[in-house]
Amino acid sequence: MTVRIAPSVLSCDLGRLREQVQQAEAGGAEWLHVDVMDGHFVPNLTFGAPMIRALRKISTLPIDVHLMVERPEQYLAEYADLGAAVFAFHPEATVHVQRHLAAARERGMKAGLVLNPSTPVSWLEEVIDDLDLVLIMSVNPGFGGQGYLPASTTKIRRVRELLDRHGRQDVVLEVDGGITTQTIGAAHRAGADTFVAGTAVFGQPDIGEAVRALHRAAAEA
Ligand code: DX5
Ligand code: ZN
Repeated sequence: MTVRIAPSVLSCDLGRLREQVQQAEAGGAEWLHVDVMDGHFVPNLTFGAPMIRALRKISTLPIDVHLMVERPEQYLAEYADLGAAVFAFHPEATVHVQRHLAAARERGMKAGLVLNPSTPVSWLEEVIDDLDLVLIMSVNPGFGGQGYLPASTTKIRRVRELLDRHGRQDVVLEVDGGITTQTIGAAHRAGADTFVAGTAVFGQPDIGEAVRALHRAAAEA
C-alpha cells in the first residue's frame, strides 16, 4: 500500500514557511496539510485562503485542506480556484453534506469527510459513492501536539472494512493527530495510507529527516 506523509503547516515556524516546507518536500513529503479553524467549530483560530495561496507559490505538492469551520461550503469555490487538491470537512459542521461533497468533486478537488473521535463510522455509508477521502481524527481537533487516541486504531480498521465492503479501495484513508514514528505503524497496519504529521515533522530539528523517519516507520509496520 502506498504511504503518503502530509506535514501539517500548523506546526511550522510561519516566519520560515518557505524554508521549512521545502525541507519537508526534500525529505519526501507527498502532500501539504492545511488546518483551517474558525474559533467556533473548534476552540482555535488559524488561517485560510492566504495560507493556501502562499503554499501554492512555494511548492507544487498537492494541498490537503482540512476545514474545521462551520458551514465549510462557504469556502469551496475559493479554495478550488486557489488550487486545493483536497476539500475535507466535518459532517457536523453543515447540513447538506452530499451536496457539498459533489460540489467539491465537480470543481476538481478530492471530496473528503472528517470523523471526530466521537463521530459514528456509519455516517460514511450514506454518502459512500460521493467520497474520495476519509480523514479519521486520532485527537479531538483544534490543536497540534496532542497524543494519539488508542481507540483510533480500531476505528481505522472499521473504516477500511467498510470501504472494502463497498469496493471503494480507491478512497484515500487518512489519519490526523498524534502521528509519530511510534504511532504510525499501528495506524498503517489498521489500513490507513495517508498520515498527517505536525509536531513529528515541523517540531523536529531536521525536518527532512523527520519525514524520512515516518516513511521508514510505516514501511516497517
Ligand atoms: C488538529 C489538526 C492536525 C494537527 C496535527 O486539530 O487537525 O492536523 O496539525 O498535529 P500533530 O501531528 O502535532 O498532532
Ligand atoms: Zn488536520
